[in-house]
Amino acid sequence: MAVEKRPHLGDATRGRILYGGDYNPEQWPEETWPEDVRLMRAAGVNSVTLGVFSWAKLEPRPGERDFGWLDRLMDLMHDNGIGVVLATPTSSPPPWMGHLHPDTLPVTEDGRTEYWGGRQHFSHSSATYRRYAAAITEDLAARYGGHPALTMWHINNEYCTYDWSDEAAARFRTWLQDRYGSLDALNSAWGTAFWSQGYGDWAEVHTPRNAHYMKNPSQVLDFKRFTSDMLLECYLAERDIVRLATPHTPVTSNFMPLWVGQDAWRWAEEEDVVSVDLYPDPRDPLGAQQGALVQDMTRSQARGPWMLMEQAAGPVNWRGVNHPKPHGLNRLWSLQAVARGADAVCYFQWRQSRQGAEKFHSGMVSHAGEEGRTYQEIKRLGAELAAISGQVTGRHTAHDVAVLHDWHAWWAGAQDGRLSNQVDYPDVLKAWHRALWEAHLTTDFAHPEHDLTAYKVVVVPQLYALTDAAIDNLLAYVRQGGTLVSGFLTGVADEDDRVRPGGMDTRLRELFGIRTLHEWWPLDAGEYADCDTFRGTLWSEEIDKTEDAAAEASYKGGELDGLPAVLRRGRAWYLSTLPEPGALRELLAGIATGAGARPVLDGLPDQVEAVRRGDLLFLLHHGREPVTVPVPGTHHDLLTGTAVTDRLTLDRYGVAVLRT
Ligand code: GAL
Repeated sequence: MAVEKRPHLGDATRGRILYGGDYNPEQWPEETWPEDVRLMRAAGVNSVTLGVFSWAKLEPRPGERDFGWLDRLMDLMHDNGIGVVLATPTSSPPPWMGHLHPDTLPVTEDGRTEYWGGRQHFSHSSATYRRYAAAITEDLAARYGGHPALTMWHINNEYCTYDWSDEAAARFRTWLQDRYGSLDALNSAWGTAFWSQGYGDWAEVHTPRNAHYMKNPSQVLDFKRFTSDMLLECYLAERDIVRLATPHTPVTSNFMPLWVGQDAWRWAEEEDVVSVDLYPDPRDPLGAQQGALVQDMTRSQARGPWMLMEQAAGPVNWRGVNHPKPHGLNRLWSLQAVARGADAVCYFQWRQSRQGAEKFHSGMVSHAGEEGRTYQEIKRLGAELAAISGQVTGRHTAHDVAVLHDWHAWWAGAQDGRLSNQVDYPDVLKAWHRALWEAHLTTDFAHPEHDLTAYKVVVVPQLYALTDAAIDNLLAYVRQGGTLVSGFLTGVADEDDRVRPGGMDTRLRELFGIRTLHEWWPLDAGEYADCDTFRGTLWSEEIDKTEDAAAEASYKGGELDGLPAVLRRGRAWYLSTLPEPGALRELLAGIATGAGARPVLDGLPDQVEAVRRGDLLFLLHHGREPVTVPVPGTHHDLLTGTAVTDRLTLDRYGVAVLRT
């Protein structure tokens, strides 16, 4: 049987790093366009995303089409050597749609309709919405599928809507029928014997709307799964239309970073290019680490090069206070993305808007125009990316350490009725990634059912719910010689959110050497669990260990005095609390070294990040004072074109890209 070869990011980059961004020329008089193109060319822009929010312009009245302006733009881009990532405009339906077809509008948990006038006001389950979305997608594919400027399809934008409407409820029922087959199975999975919730007829089953008191957690969990699946159906319907017209053009849909509403592992399987939008806060001291986390996760979803679809050249406008990027920071964070596998560095948006909700959100060309610092820095970065492009694109590097992450476990664990609302899944994930990042260990992310055998160390910050298959996988990984480090609240429940006997899966307890898990002792904000070698935060546990397990750290004082805080049995480690950042870093770095995983470089100053991509070594300085970095041997810095021997000095926000 012939194996189908899917297009990929390389078909769009053709050896160059894609550089550019969302271009919304319909917001400007046509006389501006030649000026845009002049500035794009001067800045090395080779890619623009068109049409993301153009539905009302393309279809001013139901079924009418106005393609003239887009024809002219596609030609203009092609004439200037700029490729087009063409978006389907389906994330923001025109006002006529909601007006004529209220069934296309989503309904909130408390039964309110979300109206047009903003964006993303579509019901994923609405047959009417889906019909219109398919029609405009078909026409775009037919008209531009053969256009030489087209390099990639961009479906919708940041799929993220929830819908509790009646139409969604009807669709939820069929989704549940597919999942469970019978009402008996549904009643069992949802544990409806509790609080008299037993269902006797499918018609009684609804989306989890506002209720008097805590909702059924398994119903809420399934609603989250359903929402991700419905949005995926919308994506697939449009993807299949463009795929049919242009089988050799890659397709993407941009993710939000660590967005709770989409199972991005599942989605990534359906994308030719995995792309993400990334907006760390320039004032956040951990902004670079949080960027690195998203980049590592996106690279892992892509299993290779990925696309930074959006970032901001300056301030965003959706935080309480929106800070600009100091001189050099945009370059630093862009090159960080390249170091961590990006083959495309793009922005929202090309030219800063003068009207609308985002007029104070930066663009590559700010209100200050060509002379403004933002554009000048964009121009310099464009030249640098062009210079290193040929040595970078397509390169993928395997890493020794994997962090496990799963949306279903997140959804199951983040419910009402749990013991502590201080335990926030993304925060725990970030804390573990930060420890590894600060130890200069580059990490991949993986799903708990992925093949883990290539990793020397696998860490599980927290996977509250695990399938039997995932547990088998973890056990097999350790049996085959892997080192596993798990945090608390892992393996507590099965995939229906049914607590496993003993409060944690028996086989996992055996693996870590936990004889009995007597009680969980969550900690208040600002409260610590003192241990002999560090302080624990967030959580602690009353555990008896088995004889063959070692207490690597113990609680000191208080109710848990003398009980194990960190347990080890062979190559399996269990942390029943979250050590403070420095202690977690030391612990994980020590375990990694013991397992043969080495930091990228020894002796790095604290604020310097080092990443290997192919045969290149990226050094990224996140501080403002110059630092000297030891780099034994002789290297060539691609950015300066100079030789570097044994050490190098990086100025404020400095970057070096070394080939040894
Ligand atoms: C993204 C979105 C863009 C723009 C940007 C502003 O979420 O895709 O259209 O709104 O945020 O930061």
